[in-house]
Amino acid sequence: MLDLTRSTKAFDDAKDILPGGVDSPVRSYRSVDSNPPFISSASGDHIYDIDGNEYIDYVLSWGPMILGHADPEVTAALQEAVPRGTSYGAPTLLETELAKKIQAFVPSMEMMRLVNSGTEATMSALRVARGYTGRDKIVKFIGCYHGHSDSLLVKAGSGLATFGVPDSPGVPANVAKDTVTLPYNDKEAFKSFFDAHGDEIAAVIVEPVAGNMGCVPPVEGFLELLREETAKHETVLIFDEVMCGFRASSGGAQKRYQIVPDMTCLGKIVGGGMPLAVFGGRKAIMSCVAPAGPVYQAGTLSGNPLATTAGLATMSVLQRDPTVFRKAEESTDYLCRGLLRVAKEVGVPVQVQWVGSMFTLFFSDKPVRNFDDANACDREAFKKFFAYNLEHGIYYAPSQFESNFMSIAHSQADLDTSIQIAKKAFQVLKA
Ligand SMILES: Cc1ncc(COP(=O)(O)O)c(C=O)c1O
Repeated sequence: MLDLTRSTKAFDDAKDILPGGVDSPVRSYRSVDSNPPFISSASGDHIYDIDGNEYIDYVLSWGPMILGHADPEVTAALQEAVPRGTSYGAPTLLETELAKKIQAFVPSMEMMRLVNSGTEATMSALRVARGYTGRDKIVKFIGCYHGHSDSLLVKAGSGLATFGVPDSPGVPANVAKDTVTLPYNDKEAFKSFFDAHGDEIAAVIVEPVAGNMGCVPPVEGFLELLREETAKHETVLIFDEVMCGFRASSGGAQKRYQIVPDMTCLGKIVGGGMPLAVFGGRKAIMSCVAPAGPVYQAGTLSGNPLATTAGLATMSVLQRDPTVFRKAEESTDYLCRGLLRVAKEVGVPVQVQWVGSMFTLFFSDKPVRNFDDANACDREAFKKFFAYNLEHGIYYAPSQFESNFMSIAHSQADLDTSIQIAKKAFQVLKA
């Protein structure tokens, strides 16, 4: 039995002062009806809690740690940078250097701005798209998450195209009404909406590989259609690659599927585990950003020297060693095929979906293509599977609607252990 006595006590203490005991809701383990381990350290593919338990980590801080935790090169770069000061609020060489490295991976980002979080990147990109086009309405897809800014926290309704209603108290109805939600991977719904309203739309924002309803790849022709229609109607196409950037391929989903968006948002891996994200795109659009242009965007800590140092060290490893992506993908492939194999042996119907180095195991007997499919999964089975794995030292994302991630630090032995434990978890489910 997993002993989480100290974590449970820490969680109770935290609840007095942090809403729900956490600083980001999914960490609370509410969707799996349990209490989270409180983490004390992490190294390579392992993470350790304050009760002394050790886990093989497939959350990896929700994606950033593709090199594994506490990578020696990133750690050394940070140790060297700290004595030079933690923030200046003034230009540094690091920012231009990092931007150039990012551009080498994602050439469509002709110009970019560094920010502090994925939320800030998508929120700012939308403002720029609105400023550039002079239009207010945007399109997002049901089940795609783009951070928690008002325009993007909008509930999907049923029907072909639902003009948004707020998904959370505190989001003004007046803001939400400018967000149109459409079903992911539904080419017909998109085409008919765009035929009627394309000219009113400032931006279409999409996770080109969805990760926030679990890992859901785009169906054939979906991204192509978005590209064609947005070009036709002079709407800005924004790829939110905060999650799938550096995971779907070295150049993100846009490289994997060969679709060039007008704007791109990146986060997670670009900051090497520090608070850093970036939005960018065509020069004509990014030239609207202040002070080059009239669209305001700013940040006291933007381009912070420690965050850029961690990002640069991570990007440098990725640039120098292209096998990183191949290794992460091969390990993902190995694990996912193993999970499918043992589920089949035991006779539990699951879908394991993966793209590059992100993956989700869905308790469903049919492929998951959109939010409705994800929502129809057997969440009770997921909870039991999750609990068994945690108990046996495998740390998956605590929700059926999340992606898991692979690092190059995951050893063959750990992948095999994970597959064996999954098999036992399926057997317990079946019993
Ligand atoms: C695709 C996507 N966009 C935006 C965000 C928001 O990023 P952050 O949590 O850094 O604000 C996330 C977070 O998981 C994400 O997955």
